[in-house]
Amino acid sequence: MREADWKGPLGEAHELAVRYLEGIPERPVTVAPTAAELREALGGALPDAPADAGSVVAELARAAEPGIMPSGSGRYFGFVIGGALPAAMAADWLVSAWDQNAALYAAGPSASVVEEVAGRWVADLLGLPAGVSVGFVTSAQAATFTGLRVGLDVVLGRHGWDLARDGLSGAPPVRLLVGTTRHGTVDRAVRFLNLGAASIVPIESDRQGRMLVPALRAALEREAGSVLVSTQVGDVNTGAVDPVGEIADLAHEHGAWVHVDGAFGLWAAASPALRPRLAGIERADSWSTDGHKWLNVPYDSGIVLCAHPEAHRRAMAARGGYLQTATDGRRDEVDYVPDHSRRARGFPVYAALRSLGRQGVADLVERSYALACRFADQLADADGLEVLNEVELNQVLVRARGTGDDPDGATQRLVERLQADGTAWMSGTTWQGRAALRISVSNWRTDEEDVDRTVAAIVRCARS
Ligand SMILES: Cc1ncc(COP(=O)(O)O)c(C=O)c1O
Repeated sequence: MREADWKGPLGEAHELAVRYLEGIPERPVTVAPTAAELREALGGALPDAPADAGSVVAELARAAEPGIMPSGSGRYFGFVIGGALPAAMAADWLVSAWDQNAALYAAGPSASVVEEVAGRWVADLLGLPAGVSVGFVTSAQAATFTGLRVGLDVVLGRHGWDLARDGLSGAPPVRLLVGTTRHGTVDRAVRFLNLGAASIVPIESDRQGRMLVPALRAALEREAGSVLVSTQVGDVNTGAVDPVGEIADLAHEHGAWVHVDGAFGLWAAASPALRPRLAGIERADSWSTDGHKWLNVPYDSGIVLCAHPEAHRRAMAARGGYLQTATDGRRDEVDYVPDHSRRARGFPVYAALRSLGRQGVADLVERSYALACRFADQLADADGLEVLNEVELNQVLVRARGTGDDPDGATQRLVERLQADGTAWMSGTTWQGRAALRISVSNWRTDEEDVDRTVAAIVRCARS
C-alpha cells in the first residue's frame, strides 16, 4: 500500500477548524468580499502539477474564509439554519475519515446499525409509532420527496394501479391537498414526481398559516381519485403548526395519505411543554424533518420516517446482481432513500442525540422558543416596529412601520442595513403580501445576550 501523510493535511484542517470555531463569537456576522474578489482568490487555471496536501488545505482556507458566512454564530438568525453541536461535528469528521459507502450493510456494518439505532431514537423522541421505517437523506426536500413517493404508490395501489409497473401514464387522477403557506419544497417534490402543478389543491390557511380543517373537509369531499395530504409543522415564516391529528383523522376517512413536513418544527415534539401544539402527529403516514436545522447536526442531514415500512421499502429499494443484499434482518440503508452510494449520515445524528439526551433536546427547543418570545416582546415594544406573528415555535416576523407611507420599503432598508451591520444576520421575507424581517432562533449557542444585542441592532438600523 502506498504511504500517506495524514497528519499534515488533517492536522492543518484541525487547527484551522478550531481557530475558526473559537473565533466565531468575535467575528462580524456578515461577509465582506464580493463574488469577484472571491473568484479572484479561489480561481485561476487548473494546475498541472500536484501540490502538497497540507498546503492545499491551508491555501484553500486562506482564500475561502473571508467568504464563509459565520452561520454557526449565536447571532445568526437567517433562513432556518442550525449550528453544529461539537459531538455531531466531530462524528461528521469521522464519517469522512471512515469513508463508508452507507448504501449496504455489507459495505459498512456499523454505518447500517447506527442508522437503526439513531432512527429508533428519533422516532421515540418525536413520539412516533414504534417500528416506523427511517431513511437518512440529504434534506427535508429529499425527505418530502420520499414520503410523497411512498404515499403515491399506496394511494394509487388503493385504486388498483401499480405505479412501479405502469407509471403515471393513464393512472387515476392524483391530487395533493396542502395549505396555501406550504414550503416550496412540496411544489418541487410534486414536480420531481411528475404529478404536475395542476394536481396541487391549495387549502386555505388562517392568518398564522395553519391549514383550515373545514376547507380541507370540503376539498376532500370534492376531489375524487387518489389523494395525498401534506401538512406542515412549522411554517418557515411564522412557525405555525397545522392541526395534524384532526387532519389525519379526516383524511384517513377519505383513504388519503398524510405527510408531515416538519423540517424544523417536528423537533418541538421532544419538548413536553410544546408537544401539545403538535397533537396527533403520530397518526400521519410519513414525516420529514432535518437534523441540520433545530437539532444542530452539520449539513447535510435530512430524515424521512414512514409508518408503512413495507411500502417504504417497495418504493425505494435498490437491487442489482453485484449488490450484496442484506439478509437475516440486517438493514441496507439504500432501501429507504433515493440515493444509491451515500455518506454515513447516521453517525452525526447519533452523536447529537447521544450528547444531548432526551432532556437536552427538550432544553434546546424550549430555550429557542423562550428566546424567540424574548425577541417578540422587546421588538413589539420598540417604536416604529411591529411583530406580525404569534410566536408558536422559534420564528418571529418583524416589520418596520417607516415614517412615510412605505413600510415595505422601510422594512427592506432595515434588512439591508442589518445584513451589512455585522451584529447579527437575518433574511427578509414577504408574509401575506407584506415585507418582513424574519428571525429564526435555531442555534444551540444563542443566549439572552445575543438576543438583546440583536434587538438593539434592529432598533438602531430601523432608525438610521
Ligand atoms: C417547513 C420547511 N420545509 C422544508 C424546508 C426545506 O428544508 P431543506 O432545505 O433541508 O430541504 C424548510 C427549510 O427551511 C422548511 O422550513
